[in-house]
Amino acid sequence: MTTQKFSSYKARPLKGIAQIPGDKSISHRSLMFGGLAIGETVIHGLLEGEDCIHTADAMRAMGADIICDDKGVWHCHGVGTGGLNEPTDILEMGNSGTSTRLLMGLVGGHNITVTFSGDGSLNKRPMGRVIKPLEQMGAKVMSADGGRLPLTITGPEDTLAIKYKLPVASAQVKSCVMLAGLSAAGTTSVIETTPTRDHTENMLRAFGVPVEVEDLEDGAQKISLTGGQDLKGTTVHVPSDPSSAAFPTVAALIVEGSEIEMRNILMNDRRNGIYTTLKEMGADIEFKNERIESGEDVADLIVRGTGSLKGIDVPASRVPSMIDEFPILAVAASCANGTTTMTGLEELRVKESDRLLMMFEGLKANGVDLEMGEDWLTIRGNGSPPTGGGEVETALDHRIAMSFMVLGMATSNPVTIDDSAPIRTSFPNFVDLMHDLGGNMMPKNS
Ligand code: S3P
Repeated sequence: MTTQKFSSYKARPLKGIAQIPGDKSISHRSLMFGGLAIGETVIHGLLEGEDCIHTADAMRAMGADIICDDKGVWHCHGVGTGGLNEPTDILEMGNSGTSTRLLMGLVGGHNITVTFSGDGSLNKRPMGRVIKPLEQMGAKVMSADGGRLPLTITGPEDTLAIKYKLPVASAQVKSCVMLAGLSAAGTTSVIETTPTRDHTENMLRAFGVPVEVEDLEDGAQKISLTGGQDLKGTTVHVPSDPSSAAFPTVAALIVEGSEIEMRNILMNDRRNGIYTTLKEMGADIEFKNERIESGEDVADLIVRGTGSLKGIDVPASRVPSMIDEFPILAVAASCANGTTTMTGLEELRVKESDRLLMMFEGLKANGVDLEMGEDWLTIRGNGSPPTGGGEVETALDHRIAMSFMVLGMATSNPVTIDDSAPIRTSFPNFVDLMHDLGGNMMPKNS
């Protein structure tokens, strides 16, 4: 793989309307559920990033009929629950943890053998968290050391329904167990003590599979479904991704005088912690036309850069609702006035990279005053952007790469990343979109 260094230079005030690509979590699930459902599933607004293309390719390799028409609308004809075929080759999942963990769940409900492999980032990520419940459901798994990829999983002849309490707040683990449970005889339940994104629950219902959610006495929730049901094809309108929208949002906030609009942004309350946090920091973000589309809350956002962000304490209870947004929040905090504390961040260490470490080192290299602990980060902003001028390692992590490109839009010296290629996994038009708004980023030839 060739790498491409990229530099981001101080931007003029950002202006315009930015069309943010489709939500990654909903796109993955649309392809998986469409590839399983009986009848046609039509998907509008699918995110065509590399991660989702890996999901489409994997579902095709297991027998689903998935095409994109010349208008960019995706059509799936699925194989029915229990109908996935054994692929002839290894499934290469690239950088995508969501594809891998959810597809492992689907394979756990089929008596087929599948080998999953990934890139240098994915092959380091822990899979034990999904291997454990899948083994309880009857799957056999052989993995590389430490429960890592490459791994081979054979689904059982009869998948066992289980009741599984999540040891980590993870929508991927919850979804994996539920998807294996689709083939099990009886009711599979997942208990989560901290709410995580609920797209699997919402979308399975839209595909005709009842999912029950029960509030337990201790504040936890039990999510249950009964196996042996087919999904029915449906039409999905994928809203724009709030995690992707967070990058232009913070860019507009830290480049004074900016005013941008982003339409049709998913506002699911288990996803929008970054917007709550930025508002608490004093951000000028207006939510217009709040409405429900395809069963999800969406809104149009207007963001104005007034140069008045202040440091705050981010409550640890909010972490799951903004789990992917800490890198870009750290950029906002670096330009804010005062101290921002972030705690409960242990999961950041096992994302596409060790995000806590990558942000700490990258921000330090760009003149930010900060401290890091095992699961926390404290950033002391002085009310204006740091000096910049640093070169940052991105470790195959799209969100680290985009966060530092945004930082460079506000610093007086350019910020350089070692590789822009990972951005394609979730936000393929990021650079063009930022240019259209007034950003200035380009390849750096070393
Ligand atoms: C995702 C869940 C989150 C998130 C990831 C997408 C999903 O991971 O970080 O980008 O679509 O279910 P965890 O469930 O591991 O926290």
